[in-house]
Amino acid sequence: MLLEVKNLKTEFKLKRGTVRAVDDVSFTIDKGEILAIVGESGSGKSVTSLSIMGLLQNPGKIAGGEILFKSQDLNKMNQKELQKIRGNEISMIFQEPMTSLNPVYRIKDQIMENILTHMEISKKEALERTVKMLETVGIPSPAERANDYPHQMSGGMRQRVMIAMALSCDPELLIADEPTTALDVTIQAQILELLYNMREKFNMAVMLITHDLGVVAEAADRVIVMYCGKIVEEANVKSLFKNPLHPYTVGLLNSIPQIDNDSDERLYMIKGMVPNPLHMPSGCSFSDRCEHCMERCTKETPELREIDGHKVRCFLYDETKEGELKVK
Ligand SMILES: Nc1ncnc2c1ncn2[C@@H]1O[C@H](COP(=O)(O)OP(=O)(O)OP(=O)(O)O)[C@@H](O)[C@H]1O
Ligand code: SF4
Ligand SMILES: [Mg+2]
Repeated sequence: MLLEVKNLKTEFKLKRGTVRAVDDVSFTIDKGEILAIVGESGSGKSVTSLSIMGLLQNPGKIAGGEILFKSQDLNKMNQKELQKIRGNEISMIFQEPMTSLNPVYRIKDQIMENILTHMEISKKEALERTVKMLETVGIPSPAERANDYPHQMSGGMRQRVMIAMALSCDPELLIADEPTTALDVTIQAQILELLYNMREKFNMAVMLITHDLGVVAEAADRVIVMYCGKIVEEANVKSLFKNPLHPYTVGLLNSIPQIDNDSDERLYMIKGMVPNPLHMPSGCSFSDRCEHCMERCTKETPELREIDGHKVRCFLYDETKEGELKVK
């Protein structure tokens, strides 16, 4: 087991109340595994990854739980200990690449700095490694482009530079937060293929955050669906797409455009909106939008149940004596 997140709770204490952005989330990532985390805006995907990286901004605080990386609790480490792991054993690609590239430094200096912080090699070797990484992520004429400043590159190129930087110290775990959202479809596909190849080549594990289920189908081994800070479903990619259980997941899957569908039927949309985190519905958090909502759903909170590796948080399913999930 590479990463084990246990009962993670992350809160933002605001004047108007407390937002529980991550609410008792547990999951694991194995070596070399690609785990996708999906969910609408505000479901807690970025806050989960920032909690793991120890990069929460005030007033964000971890209110409970453990984050075990190779059995060591990251949450108990001080910033100095964390810095040794960040950018080295665990790397992150952030949702907004421009915020993590410094506009006043050349690309090569930024990547080299990361390498020199974590590896005991000479400047010359660090530069060679930088150019090699830029080449690996598909930047043409990498030795020359290494001299560019971020603004001299296109959005797609900058995203590749971010990936090159994140991969420059051979991380064992890469956290990629919406790595392809801002890019056009061709470049999206290239970046995904790149992540996939990196996993094959270096046995790197990837936590891939996205709201795009097409990306999930293409790249992931396993999927976690989050809604309002909670995991509502978890399964391997095949069973999630073949047999989605939670009404929210079903809604997400139905809202993917079908290329072969030439009818002018409008795209399905999950009704309603994600609730205000300060005014969550009682009972199941999806109850105010769910087409299957029952009386019980507005009174009790469903638990996440696991049967044969497929987990779901919904009262529609109950365990039978044989231990199989069935619709009530
Ligand atoms: N700095 C902050 N202060 C207060 N609340 C915050 C802050 N950052 C995040 N939150 C709250 O935490 C919740 C989860 O946010 P998060 O950024 O993790 O969502 P997300 O799933 O990454 O969404 P997106 O798809 O838009 O990136 C939201 O309800 C958000 O309002
Ligand atoms: S528990 Fe009830 S409201 Fe929640 S998703 Fe299941 S059926 Fe819908
Ligand atoms: Mg986010």
